Amino acid sequence: MELRYNPEELTRLPRSVTYENGKVKLIDQRLLPREFKVIELMTIEEVARAIVTMQVRGAPAIGAAVAFGLALYAETTKAKTKDEFFDGFYETYERLKNTRPTAVNLFWALNRVKKLVEEHRENSLDKIKHLIVEEAQKIADEDVEANLRMGHYGAEVLPEGNVLTHCNAGSLATVHLGTVGAVLRVMHKEGTLKLLWVDETRPVLQGARLSAWEYHYDGIPLKIISDNMAGFVMQQGKVDAIIVGADRIVANGDFANKIGTYTLAVLAKEHGIPFFTVAPLSTIDMSLKSGKEIPIEERAKEEVLTCGGCKIAPDVDVYNPAFDVTPHKYLTGIITDRGVVYPPFERNLKRLFKRE
Ligand code: MRU
Repeated sequence: MELRYNPEELTRLPRSVTYENGKVKLIDQRLLPREFKVIELMTIEEVARAIVTMQVRGAPAIGAAVAFGLALYAETTKAKTKDEFFDGFYETYERLKNTRPTAVNLFWALNRVKKLVEEHRENSLDKIKHLIVEEAQKIADEDVEANLRMGHYGAEVLPEGNVLTHCNAGSLATVHLGTVGAVLRVMHKEGTLKLLWVDETRPVLQGARLSAWEYHYDGIPLKIISDNMAGFVMQQGKVDAIIVGADRIVANGDFANKIGTYTLAVLAKEHGIPFFTVAPLSTIDMSLKSGKEIPIEERAKEEVLTCGGCKIAPDVDVYNPAFDVTPHKYLTGIITDRGVVYPPFERNLKRLFKRE
């Protein structure tokens, strides 16, 4: 795959999650679009809270945030012996693990650093600390590279015209560029993206608040629609393709993504519209056979009972699953950083991992 652009040619945005000298820095996604602010986190509890409250969100961004959380531990711990260090490491690992359950990148990143640390248990404490920081940085850098690759693969297979997306799988949801974000940016650069339809994505409004903000910032022509308008827009022939991100893709191709994705997938099939998900290999969980096994996060009822901080409903009971599962039969293809996977997904995903 020939990479025609570098990240700086595709977006004016800075990286969403970075790490420097005991500080995890992130763009506070709860404040956008009202305010653009980079916050600095200096304790593990602050990192964990930032994930739970969605100051940082989106599967790959969460993965990078927990990896940097472990780096933060390594560089700030007061542990004097190796035993003390490892006790603190596992405590940190557990705290970060118990933040959000659906996006597999979180567990993937934590386990990648844990495995490395355990393999080097016999090394000096200084060496182990250095390895953790280096690995966390690698996870972040590899995410940017993966996004760039997906952007190029995706732009080759998406038809020219109007694209609809849901939630935010843009630069903000990753370290930089985005998964869907990279595809849209390459298409925009090459003139094949005519108009982007942005689903507002209730209840947390990641589409209206975040996707619309970041794509508009990069000059991509777009229109926001409320979620219940998507079907009508498709029926009117105004959507040529749909691309969404993923929080976890399993061995048979079923995938979890932001609540509302399943509805779009069914509508896309009815209207003969190509429907793609875009995700790096770190989002693919080959240990689960079907989407039924994916743990789905349920969030606080206030998210549904309020909008932009205002109460919009009486204080009644609420069901608030943050994600849904789209069966693979609705998918046209999975755009990964190692190429596009088409049906039969079970066989082709297995082949992809064997090749890697
Ligand atoms: O609850 P969120 O905002 O973290 O959910 C995010 C999504 O569903 C994204 O589509 C997914 O994480 C992919 S981000 C590249």
